[in-house]
Amino acid sequence: MLAIDAIDTFYGETQALFGVSLAVGAGEVLALLGANGAGKTTLLRSILGLTRPRRGEIRFRDRAITRRPTHEIARAGVGWVPDDRRLCPTLTVAKNLSLGMKATGFRRWTMDEVTELFSPLKYLMAREAETLSGGEMQMVAIARALLGAPGLVLFDEPSQGLAPKIVGDVMAVIARMRGEGIAAIVVEQNPDVALAVADRVVVLARGQVAWAGTPAELAADPALRRQLLGGLQ
Ligand SMILES: Nc1ncnc2c1ncn2[C@@H]1O[C@H](COP(=O)(O)OP(=O)(O)O)[C@@H](O)[C@H]1O
Ligand SMILES: [Mg+2]
Repeated sequence: MLAIDAIDTFYGETQALFGVSLAVGAGEVLALLGANGAGKTTLLRSILGLTRPRRGEIRFRDRAITRRPTHEIARAGVGWVPDDRRLCPTLTVAKNLSLGMKATGFRRWTMDEVTELFSPLKYLMAREAETLSGGEMQMVAIARALLGAPGLVLFDEPSQGLAPKIVGDVMAVIARMRGEGIAAIVVEQNPDVALAVADRVVVLARGQVAWAGTPAELAADPALRRQLLGGLQ
C-alpha cells in the first residue's frame, strides 16, 4: 500500500528525517513509536506532502506521490487524523463531516456507518465543533477520515489527552478498519496503546529508524523495550 524509501526531510536547513524507509501493506496497522521530537509527525507530514522530502521516494499503491500536492495525495486515498484534530471550530459536526466526504476508489463509508461506529455522534450533529470535548473531537476527526474513503489512515497520537474509555473505543475502531482492509500508521508516545492493535512496529529516534519488528518481539525482550522506549514508559 505504502512504501517509503530513504527519505530526508528538512525544516529550512534543519534536517528532521535521515534516510527513513518503511512499508505498510494493505490492511496492515503499523505502530510508529518514538520520543517527543523523534520525527513521527514529520514522517506523516512527509507522506501527506505537507513537508516534502528533499531526497528519497514515497509510493502509494505503486505510484510515486513524493512531489504531489497534498490534495492529490488525499484524493488518492490517504486519510489523516491530525494531533490537533483540525476541525472547523464554528461549523457544526454535520458540516465538518460532510466536508470530509470524497471519492477515492476505496470504499466510501456512509454517514450511517460512522455514526454506528461512534454512537455519540448521532446526538452531536447540530453542535458547533468548538463546543465538543477532546474525546468528541477525536470521534469527529476519525469519522471525517473514514467518510473520505481512505485506503490508509495516518493517526497522529490518537490517544493523547483522552479518557481511557475513549482510547479503548478509538483502538477498537482502528481494529475494525483493519478488518475492512484499511491500512493505518498509528503514531503514539504511549507504546501499550499502539502495540495492542499493531501488526508491526517501527521506532524512530533522532529522525532515524532505530528498530523495526513485531509487537511480540518487543514484548518478549524487556531489555530491548527499555533501550528503545525507556523514556516513554
Ligand atoms: N515547523 C517546524 N520547524 C522547524 N523544526 C521543526 C518543525 N516541526 C518539527 N520540527 C523539528 O523536527 C524534529 C521532529 O519533530 P516532530 O516530527 O514534530 O517529532 P515528534 O512528532 O516525533 O514529536 C524536532 O527536532 C522538531 O523540533
Ligand atoms: Mg508529533
